[in-house]
Amino acid sequence: MRRIFTLVIVFTLVATFAQAQISVNKILCENRTNPMGLDNTQPRFTWELASAGHNVSQTAYQVRVSTYPDFRKPIWNSGKVVSDSSVHIAYKGTALTSHTKYYWQVKVWDNSKKASAWSETGYWISSLFNTTEWQAKWIGPGFKEDSLRASPMFRKVFSSTKKVSSAIAYITAHGLYEAQINGHRVGDAYLTPGWTSYGKRLQYQAYDVTDLLATGNNVVGVTLGSGWYRGLIGFSNNQNFYGKDVALLFQLHVTYTDGTSAVISSDGSWKSSTGEITYAEIYNGETIDARKIKKGWALNGYNDAGWNSAQVMDYGFKNLLATYNEPVRKHETFKTLRVLKTKKNEHLVDFGQNLVGWVKIRLKGKKGQKVTISHAEVLDKDGDFYTENLRAAKAQDTYILSGEGVELFEPHFTFHGFQFIKVEGYNNDLNPDDFTAVALYSDMNPTGSFSSSNALVNQLQHNIQWGQKGNFLDVPTDCPQRDERLGWTGDAQVFSRTASFNMNVDNFFAKWLKDITADQTEKGAVPFVIPNVLGKGAAGSAGWGEAATVIPWNMYVAYGDKQVLKDQYGSMKAWVDYMKSQTKDDLWNTGFHFGDWLFYSVNDDTDGTSAVTDKYLIAQCFYAYSTQLLINAAQVLGKTDDYEAYGKNLKRIKDAFVREYVTSNGRMVSGTQTAYVLALNFDMLPVDLRPQAASRLVDNITKYNNHLTTGFLGTPYLCHVLSEFGYTDEAYKLLLQDTYPSWLYPVKMGATTIWERWDGIKPDKTFETPTMNSFNHYSYGAIGDWMYRVMVGLDTYNDGPGYKHIKIMPHPGGGFTNASASLQTYYGTVSSAWAIGGDQLNFDIEIPVNTTASVFIPAKDAASVMDGGKPLKNGKPYQPAKSKENYIMVELGSGKYHYTVTN
Ligand code: BGC
Repeated sequence: MRRIFTLVIVFTLVATFAQAQISVNKILCENRTNPMGLDNTQPRFTWELASAGHNVSQTAYQVRVSTYPDFRKPIWNSGKVVSDSSVHIAYKGTALTSHTKYYWQVKVWDNSKKASAWSETGYWISSLFNTTEWQAKWIGPGFKEDSLRASPMFRKVFSSTKKVSSAIAYITAHGLYEAQINGHRVGDAYLTPGWTSYGKRLQYQAYDVTDLLATGNNVVGVTLGSGWYRGLIGFSNNQNFYGKDVALLFQLHVTYTDGTSAVISSDGSWKSSTGEITYAEIYNGETIDARKIKKGWALNGYNDAGWNSAQVMDYGFKNLLATYNEPVRKHETFKTLRVLKTKKNEHLVDFGQNLVGWVKIRLKGKKGQKVTISHAEVLDKDGDFYTENLRAAKAQDTYILSGEGVELFEPHFTFHGFQFIKVEGYNNDLNPDDFTAVALYSDMNPTGSFSSSNALVNQLQHNIQWGQKGNFLDVPTDCPQRDERLGWTGDAQVFSRTASFNMNVDNFFAKWLKDITADQTEKGAVPFVIPNVLGKGAAGSAGWGEAATVIPWNMYVAYGDKQVLKDQYGSMKAWVDYMKSQTKDDLWNTGFHFGDWLFYSVNDDTDGTSAVTDKYLIAQCFYAYSTQLLINAAQVLGKTDDYEAYGKNLKRIKDAFVREYVTSNGRMVSGTQTAYVLALNFDMLPVDLRPQAASRLVDNITKYNNHLTTGFLGTPYLCHVLSEFGYTDEAYKLLLQDTYPSWLYPVKMGATTIWERWDGIKPDKTFETPTMNSFNHYSYGAIGDWMYRVMVGLDTYNDGPGYKHIKIMPHPGGGFTNASASLQTYYGTVSSAWAIGGDQLNFDIEIPVNTTASVFIPAKDAASVMDGGKPLKNGKPYQPAKSKENYIMVELGSGKYHYTVTN
């Protein structure tokens, strides 16, 4: 009995110790798990820590890196570094070499001096650091292309007689590529190499293909599509924007177990031909003629005697770089929700979700039978298939059957935005099981969740997330379905902070921001779209150019990485200097601007109810905001001269604003919501004029019967400004409004994504003009930022960006009985949840290890708060300066906390 008792005690002690032990939960290198092909010579390491209990932080770390998995001969051993930094720690060992696999580990010490075990072993593979390391040659098809520009295929047989220890392939293309080795697809990325400003920056991908190689003869097969490179892109059916010929660059490094190696490269010895993909365009869709399949063409033994030698092209290697962002991959799949036959006798499939990707199809029929699949986002008021809003994009995949048994079809080099498909040329009775919709988007980690007691608001959150999934396809696009799908800068900047909650968009934006830098004009103007396919003159609009300043700053705040500011500083400054160069007497009142795009306006506006905001007033606000963000960046990076110089300029910009656009009583020349929102959000008004401006904003909202009237530029800040000035109730009224214009109106109309316009579908079920009516446009989804940061209250302080110093200040209200959100930060999960029952508020939060949080408990005094069932200690009363709500503030370390407030 005594023995058992002792055992129990020992066991309990071990368990307690084990619980308190700090451990490394997750490790990342350049924000990715075991990245392939990094051309970064000083990669950065991030680790997430775990420890039960409270107030655990890191006091020291040690990182080791080796080319051996057992860490023999480390090339870097940091030793024990006294530091609480656990994110973005840069490698500082001996110089790295190209094309090498590196292993790394980290261990940490916590604030009770306990050490963790070494973390799991992570690795990365360096890519080709120098463009001179490309031995491969660019190759194009060795035949004249047909008028439809059928997808060329390339084939190479090589022999590998020794045992392979590793094989890494580096591949890119002018156009899009899909590669196979011995008939197996290389990797699971789609639409590679993705879209960048190709002339200056073309990403290549690295793949570990060790398992695909066989002893003896091996075959590489690669198919190319026109893609963004030379396909239709931009308006007016532009083709060949980057060049008229597709081309392939392929270099495979094979290392054998005996230490020898070989390189297999694209060159004139490769063979080229065409096969079943007879047409492929992003906007128009793909045609596959199964009668033209060249069976076994990527396998050994195929007779390629009829193929032409590939043509070597002289494109050079200067613009090549390794891929930094996550590739596009397949994600959710959707089964048929219902098959429909319309009055027009059309056969439709409804997948129940507006998504971006394509449909996989199983067909059986006669040889030569032609089946077309058209895509649509919505049905019209009669229930008919509606494609007018796709404008010139045909969005149609065509399959010509071989007649050989059950045939499977799936496109390769296109994508569609759709919820419905129309099937033509097939059976009258569609089998629901024959159709599967596949969502394709950049493979960013999902990081955020939000939910509340209101089902419509939860659907809004769903729509915001699907707006993001549908439009984060290697670049942030405006819309995914019509003949546009461009990286509109304004849309991306207004949504960027919301995006950083839903998914980890750190690398996604880091890559795209470099394309901004690449495409900025010599004078610093930021193009309307990035990559810029609209021409040099299409640049310089206020609110759009802000992508160059707002996104780097938002990413810095969301992920705490100074590198993005370092990398983008020149671009940020160039944009601010561009605006300055356009001013006279500190006023930016020249040039073309989109203004508060798609604001509320009425057709026959006899009494002036349309919410028109002076475009130059808007321009001045964004000029000030960008200048402020540049000042912030200068401060973070220690650029004192800029900090001071731009600080002085900012004062002049604001003075000029007040002189030009504000009466001495504080009325603005445009009395719109957007005008007041921008002026207040960017601190454009003297302090004493701000409260009256906020109340004018509220009056305006009341005048519209609690409706918003803002367009792309005012919408993101509307509820933030209301809450900041103590009008959270009004913010809730806007959030919960469900008649046009409002966020919930589309939800009530059955939307599964965010619409481009507040009234894409009108109450009588007719549509807005088809020339501009996308049903998958994320901009207005920017309300998500307020839902996370204000409603649930998850935020980070700028002095500890990336949630090193967390701010949690929820705003219960609006008749909601609960709301909760969580976010996967680089430190771990932070969450906040409030729930109201009777006169009690329950408040649950989670703070990750190695962070601190200032938490604001909504309560009138400390005495009404219980902390885990006990009276709260150390709570301080707090009132936000402008809004005067009552909170009790506590400073917390890591752990889970439960508060109850009796009011
Ligand atoms: C796009 C937008 C974009 C706008 C510029 C539209 O065609 O779809 O979202 O920002 O043009 O005004």
